[in-house]
Amino acid sequence: MCGIVGFAGIKNSKEAVLNGLRKLEYRGYDSAGIAISSSDNVLSIFKDKGRVEHLEEIITKDLDGPLAIGHTRWATHGKPNKINAHPHISNNKRFIIVHNGVIDNYKELKYTKLSGFNFYSETDTEVIVNLIEYYSRKYDVSSSIRITATKLEGSYSCLIIDKETPDKIYVLKNKTPLLIGCGEKGNIIASDVIPLIGYATKYTNLEDQVFGIVTKDSVSITDYLGNKLEYNVNQVSVNDEEITLGRYPHYMLKEIEEQPDVIRRLISKYFDGENIIINKDLVSMFKSINKINFVAAGTSMYASLMGKYFFEKLCRIPSEVLQSSELVYSSPLIKDVPLFIFLSQSGETADSIAVLKKVKESGYPTLLITNNIGSTMASISDYCLDIYAGPEISVASTKAYVAQVVTMSILAKAVSGSITKLKNHLKSLAKKTEEILGKKVIIKGLADQIKDAKAVFYIGRGIDYWASLESALKLKEISYIHTEAFSSGELKHGTIALIEENVPVIAICTQEGTNGIVRSNLIETEARGAKSFVISMESLSQSSDSFIIPNVSHYLTPLLTVVVTQLLAYYTAVNKNLDIDKPRNLAKSVTVE
Ligand code: G6P
Repeated sequence: MCGIVGFAGIKNSKEAVLNGLRKLEYRGYDSAGIAISSSDNVLSIFKDKGRVEHLEEIITKDLDGPLAIGHTRWATHGKPNKINAHPHISNNKRFIIVHNGVIDNYKELKYTKLSGFNFYSETDTEVIVNLIEYYSRKYDVSSSIRITATKLEGSYSCLIIDKETPDKIYVLKNKTPLLIGCGEKGNIIASDVIPLIGYATKYTNLEDQVFGIVTKDSVSITDYLGNKLEYNVNQVSVNDEEITLGRYPHYMLKEIEEQPDVIRRLISKYFDGENIIINKDLVSMFKSINKINFVAAGTSMYASLMGKYFFEKLCRIPSEVLQSSELVYSSPLIKDVPLFIFLSQSGETADSIAVLKKVKESGYPTLLITNNIGSTMASISDYCLDIYAGPEISVASTKAYVAQVVTMSILAKAVSGSITKLKNHLKSLAKKTEEILGKKVIIKGLADQIKDAKAVFYIGRGIDYWASLESALKLKEISYIHTEAFSSGELKHGTIALIEENVPVIAICTQEGTNGIVRSNLIETEARGAKSFVISMESLSQSSDSFIIPNVSHYLTPLLTVVVTQLLAYYTAVNKNLDIDKPRNLAKSVTVE
């Protein structure tokens, strides 16, 4: 959570940092702040509760200079207000810091080392900047920052300015992402690659426990003892077009509409004619395992359920889906020879990273399926598969779900070694997704009927239940309507007590074996006053159904039903005039546990 950006250049650092912060707002948007050094080395700080848009309004017009650092916050320690907003400043006003992460031992440091210091905010960050001041009484600035780092427990990416060396941005990185891009007009540092677009063509993804000094024309990286380190160089492969809104009112709608192209892109990346092209070592590694543990969070976890389905049905490998946040604090009994498959759109989810590290230490093979092959998780896992979804900006994940599920279907087919018609199925899936996108008006009509509901229930069985889980998550996270998904068989064991007059219950019916029973479970809710809706597949449809998806291989139906429910969530939130791309209290990349 939180995004940080720094720029050391010849001039125009304010614009570079604000531009970066706008692009990083998906990481949190409780408050925003910036420190700017003017050409005569005067440092000015602006910060407040609220968005980057508001920050821009409060910055003194025409103020700019060669150096700036900025922050967009998802509150962890302390309320979202001006005092807790970053940047924070040391007591003697010499050091200024922005920080992404959580310092676990900040209280201990505050009450032992920093007992004579004043603290104005409730944040853990003020401890870091005052600790630097504390050590600077004895050491030079670089040593003070490096010694400070050795005292910190937790996760941190920090950018620090020292008023006495005003041409430098000091950098610390441990467990939260930080990249440095080098450009002709200066060097830029950011939590993600997208602020680098337009400023750098190459970047380095910092390792953990490193210290850096960045000026307009130099980058130096060392460990905490000051030993120089070599660093990797990557190409900035995202372009501006991929991250601009264009004709769309919201990124969520743009990303929903990109789904047919994402499916086609995956076909082009993973098929050569009729053959699947996936790393042979990875495919043959499956021969040495007899169990798959999927590990993920949020939408990626719901996508994993489809992975379990594919690998059990097509490859006969028993599979389990585990929540990364639970697994961090538990030690499952492992008797089989497992492969751990991690799913993560960002590759930066803190819980998933923590589990991945534990699994690696235990010596089990690991595969990451991700939209960010330059991520922390990609650098740790043994194997990595790209889902090629392109940047996903909206906090509510849509195209990443579809891309993850399609990628797993291809992998499972490759592992099963069976003659494949999958390519044709996927081609037709892309077309049928477009057909659904062409029927938005029906979905808008459904959204009108649920917008005032206090609660909504999705029901289904088997893979329709799994699609329901993802559908419920979409609706609740952007419309703020309490929405739950239930296996329809469980209704009678408690949930049906919640059914009152006019409560919307949406049944997903795409599977021949369960269509009848889910419909009769729905009738039981109708008998108790529920307002019922059915999303069905053409071959199983009835004329009264609310939305009918085209026929598609029964393995792939969630890839169409979620498009309907993504749009239903979207139009419900539009009806309620909500902030669709940045729903309250959420962030896209959950980089703290
Ligand atoms: C956050 C996002 C979700 C995402 C989840 C897991 O909660 O808002 O959209 O599904 O994190 O993220 P990951 O990047 O690991 O897939």
